[in-house]
Amino acid sequence: MRFRALIAIDLGTVNTLVWVAGRGLTLEEPTAIALDRGTGQVAAVGQEADALAGKEAQDVEVVFPLRDGVVADLDATAAMLHGFLRRALPRRGLLRPAAVVCVPSGATWVERRAVAAAAEARRPRCQVELVDEPVAAATGSGVDLSGGAGAFIVDVGGGTTEIAVVAGTRVARSRSLRLGGNAMDAAIAHTVQEELGLVLGRNATRRLKMTLGLTGGANGWAEAVGVDAVHRAPKTERVPGYLVAAALEPTVAKIADTVQEMLTDIPPDLAEDVVEGKVMLSGGGALLPGLASRIEATAGIGTLVVDDPLRCVLRGAAEIISRDGGRKAATTAGKHQHAAR
Ligand SMILES: Nc1ncnc2c1ncn2[C@@H]1O[C@H](COP(=O)(O)OP(=O)(O)OP(=O)(O)O)[C@@H](O)[C@H]1O
Ligand SMILES: [Mg+2]
Repeated sequence: MRFRALIAIDLGTVNTLVWVAGRGLTLEEPTAIALDRGTGQVAAVGQEADALAGKEAQDVEVVFPLRDGVVADLDATAAMLHGFLRRALPRRGLLRPAAVVCVPSGATWVERRAVAAAAEARRPRCQVELVDEPVAAATGSGVDLSGGAGAFIVDVGGGTTEIAVVAGTRVARSRSLRLGGNAMDAAIAHTVQEELGLVLGRNATRRLKMTLGLTGGANGWAEAVGVDAVHRAPKTERVPGYLVAAALEPTVAKIADTVQEMLTDIPPDLAEDVVEGKVMLSGGGALLPGLASRIEATAGIGTLVVDDPLRCVLRGAAEIISRDGGRKAATTAGKHQHAAR
């Protein structure tokens, strides 16, 4: 019988996923918390909180506590994780749970500390081991990294894009761009408002991104419902694919160019593994229609989307904690506390 629960947490800017040993994926919810404006109490977390966003309910404030992959509001993140972990771990164990939590490779020491603090702040106070997102993503991609084998991974999330060369369980080269799906959404909403006079809500914007992407989808256009920018009345418009592709261009170009730059700086001993294994795309942004072929064309190297890209980082984090049985979390927890004093 296991007394210490082993947990893997992918605390993302847009989505949070929790895996518990023996139970598997137990939670997959938007990274959101709704607070009562009068009392400050938690009104809802996850899906329920996210559903209130943009609806302008007067009595609650919806907070997205992470920005660009790192904690922007520590109290709100801790309260949200508390709500999630109570749901994911209904029974109390005898010992503090050991948790692997993923962080962007470019996170500063203070930003890393904040992630650990959020997971340690409230019951169940986890003993935390932080893992760089690219290492978790490469591990979760299914590539055999044993013996220090290399992999090139690009994780396009909501707030960050992690581009890294991994050797075994270590990062050899990495760049963390503070842009991803949220920047794409903002660019599409801005362009559609400027060009078509249509103010889009968040869901309508995301649907355009997912159906049209860089390719224009099946029809080369998609219908979107929003509000007329002048008359403020509901309006339906046909949005052409080229408009969405143009809006996405600056973000996509930055990602593809950075991949190309990184490929010119591969350690020679990892070059063969990278060419054979190709560039692997993970994260929700990997599903953007046309992104893989765009990276392939710019960087001149085969590019493929990993299996189930939205859960790739979590799969890797789960494998990492399963392998070490939470021993590292127990030792690094002491280090976090020492550093915080
Ligand atoms: N089919 C799709 N096409 C394009 N984008 C998509 C698709 N599905 C999901 N996304 C986008 O992927 C992003 C969420 O991905 P993911 O869950 O990997 O991010 P995250 O882990 O929360 O963020 P980060 O890793 O940056 O902190 C959102 O911006 C979402 O709109
Ligand atoms: Mg992520």
